[in-house]
Parts: sequence; structure tokens; C-alpha cells
Amino acid sequence: PRPADRLILGQLLHFTGDPFAAPVDEVTRHERRGAVLLRDGRIHATGPAEALRTAHPQAEVIDHGDALILPGFVDAHAHYPQTAMIASWGKRLIDWLNTYTFPEEMRFADPAYAATIAGRYLDLLLANGTTTVTSFCTIHPASVDALFEAAEARGMAVVAGKTCMDRNAPDGLRDTAQSAYDDSRALLLKWHGRGRATYAITPRFSPTSTPEQLEALGALWGEHPDCPMQTHLSEQTEELSWVASLYPEARDYLDTYEQRGLLREGGLYGHAIWLTDRERDRLREMGAAVVHCPTSNTFIGSGLFDMAATKAAGLSVGLATDTGGGSSFSMLRTMAAAYEIGQLSGTALHPAQLLWLATEGSAGALRMGGAIGRLAPGAAADLVVLDLASTPAIAQRHAEADTLWEAVFPTIMMGDDRAVTETYVAGIARKPQVA
Ligand code: GUN
Ligand code: ZN
Repeated sequence: PRPADRLILGQLLHFTGDPFAAPVDEVTRHERRGAVLLRDGRIHATGPAEALRTAHPQAEVIDHGDALILPGFVDAHAHYPQTAMIASWGKRLIDWLNTYTFPEEMRFADPAYAATIAGRYLDLLLANGTTTVTSFCTIHPASVDALFEAAEARGMAVVAGKTCMDRNAPDGLRDTAQSAYDDSRALLLKWHGRGRATYAITPRFSPTSTPEQLEALGALWGEHPDCPMQTHLSEQTEELSWVASLYPEARDYLDTYEQRGLLREGGLYGHAIWLTDRERDRLREMGAAVVHCPTSNTFIGSGLFDMAATKAAGLSVGLATDTGGGSSFSMLRTMAAAYEIGQLSGTALHPAQLLWLATEGSAGALRMGGAIGRLAPGAAADLVVLDLASTPAIAQRHAEADTLWEAVFPTIMMGDDRAVTETYVAGIARKPQVA
């Protein structure tokens, strides 16, 4: 017999369009007393709670009261191997990679260590309401197996790939153009489309790959264009100078990828702070997406992402923690940082825009719009349930709220894993119990 339908009750908020492209009220729907009907791991229906209860009297009911039900958060760029070195002090990008990141990534030569960190990382995500992540692994193929196995055990849709580097990285952390191609291809054939796994072809960034390696991965992507490709682009000014000296013939940073088959639809370019107009236009023409990593951009001192220019150029944008360059595992904290960076850039992002970026925006960047990140029939039953009064500081602010947006904004700005009442993955409650 089929498992019973489940009705999850609470406030519902969903988007019928992009709140950057239309007035917020035209593209948001709020159900004060709503329900989500889950069947076979998917959302079967949404609507007013009483109507759905009447229509589905057999369904098991889980009532979250006043809590807000949203699609699970989608983190569009992270490094799970950096879990254990998050919040490392005092360095900018290149020194930070050499001092903290590469030594930690070296430890993933041990598959048991990779498995430990992969499980720890995904549990931290679930505690924070994130149901899908797009993550870099390390150069070790077993680090990819570890993350996909941990994701499979939790039912999560995870996007990940072997990080490829064949220069400017220490001994033990370099592959070659050929082995990067061969290992990536083998992992892609093993994992892409297995259960909820998506394989992402993953050159770390132009400085740690030879032109030959970028070409080999560009060829692999050409053979598997339905896979995403993730990398870094124009994060920090010192990095831009380095790229210019390593690729003297390139028109700009994006061109180092474009010339080698690494610019097309499905491309995910993390950071994208110091872009020229040509790069923005070209990314849009090719149907690629950029990923805003606000806590990382302040933590590593990289700069201010220009959301207004990026959306004005018509580019697809995702939102991401970039753990452990980013200083948090939480997409709530990440939305707060995006708000703060928006303020410094002259645009106050609306709470609807922040929530949209963390769900629909990231899902769209991953070409998974409609499958995840949406409270609508057919989408995966990946949900986060938020208590909008989770701490005394938030509760006293929430008590004064007159509108939904006033009710939710204090949680965006001040909320953490205590605000996450439950996280559902494919319809199953998965928030880890904290000892
Ligand atoms: N650029 C290349 N590698 C990395 C990384 O691991 N983190 C960040 N933030 N930027 C990078
Ligand atoms: Zn990154």
C-alpha cells in the first residue's frame, strides 16, 4: 500500500513570479492558515487548510500552527570540505587558500575523514533548513562519493563534483588535465541522475588550472551539456591581476573560460563581483548564472556584489553561503548579509526578494526551477518550517508586526537554526535532534 498522504499545516508563502521583475504583491501569495499535501515525496496540492482537510480526510495531519512553511532553502555554492576550517582568521583570498584551505582539503585523501565531514556538513544544512546544496568537493574522487552517499542517506538532492586543479596548488592536491577529465567523467557516469544526485563539472578557478585542463573539462561538458559546471569568477582584485598574468591573451576573466568551452547554459559562476559590462552581457547571452555569496564576500574582504546591475542585465542569480569562505551554514544569515550588502550598494532588498533568491532564484540558477525551491504541485516535498518568534529578541519584534513582511524580516535578519522548526526532505522530517 502507498504511504499515507500527509498534510503539513501552517502559514504558506509562495511566489508566482520574480519579485525583482514585478511588484512584490503581484507575485506573492500568502495563506494565513494553509496546508501542503505531500504524496510520494512530492507536493501534491497547496491551499487553505480547511479545504484540504475536507478534501483529504485520510491524510495524516502535522500542524505547525503559526509557523511559516517555505520551500527548503537552496544553497547554490559551497565547499563542504571547508566545514572544519570555517571562520579562519585574518587572510584574503589567495593567502586564505594557501594557509587554511589547501591543508584542510589535503585531509580528504582519507575517505573516512571525507565521510565524517560530509555527514556533519549535511546535518548542519538540515538544521538550518537547507535541503539542496551545490558543493565543491576536493580533488579526491572519494570526496565526491562521500558527499553523494551522505546525501543519498538523507534523501537530499545534492549537486557536486570533483574539484580539479593541476597547478598553483600544493603537492597532493593536484591532478592533471587527463586525470581530471577521466576522474570527472567516471564520477559523472556513476552519479549523475542516480536518485537525486546531480554531477557538476568543477574546475576550481582559472588560476589553479592550466589552459589544457580547462580545455579538457570544457570538452567533457560539451559531451554532457545537461550537467551543470561550477567555478569561481572575479571574486577579488588580486585574483583578477593573477588571472590576467596567467592568461595574457584573454579579453577578461570570463574569457579564460569562454575560450575553452566553459561558458554555456548551466554554468554557475560564484562571486562575480568585479565583472565588466561585456562579461555580464555575455553571461546572459549564454544563459549562464552567477551566484551571490555575501557572507564570504565580506569575510574574505572581496567586495560588494552589484545585485541591481546583475538583475538589470537579465542574469540568473542564485544565493549561497560559500562555506567556509562564507562564515555561516545558514541561508537565513546569508539573506541577512545580502540585505546588508544591498544597503551598502544603494538597494534595500525586499524580504520577498531575499526569500525568492534563497529558493526560486537558486533553483533557477541550477536549472531546477519547478522541481525544487517552489511550493507548488509537482515540486519535491523539500520544505523548511520557520518559527517567526524563535528567540526573545525576535519575538518582541514579531509581536509588533502588522504585515507578513514585517513578521518575517526580523527572522531573516536575526534568525538562526533555532528558527527552523522542521526541515522536510522528500516529505520526511529530517531536522537533526541536537543533543
Ligand atoms: N576561489 C578559488 N577557490 C576558492 C574557495 O575555496 N573559496 C572561495 N571563496 N573562493 C575561491
Ligand atoms: Zn567557492
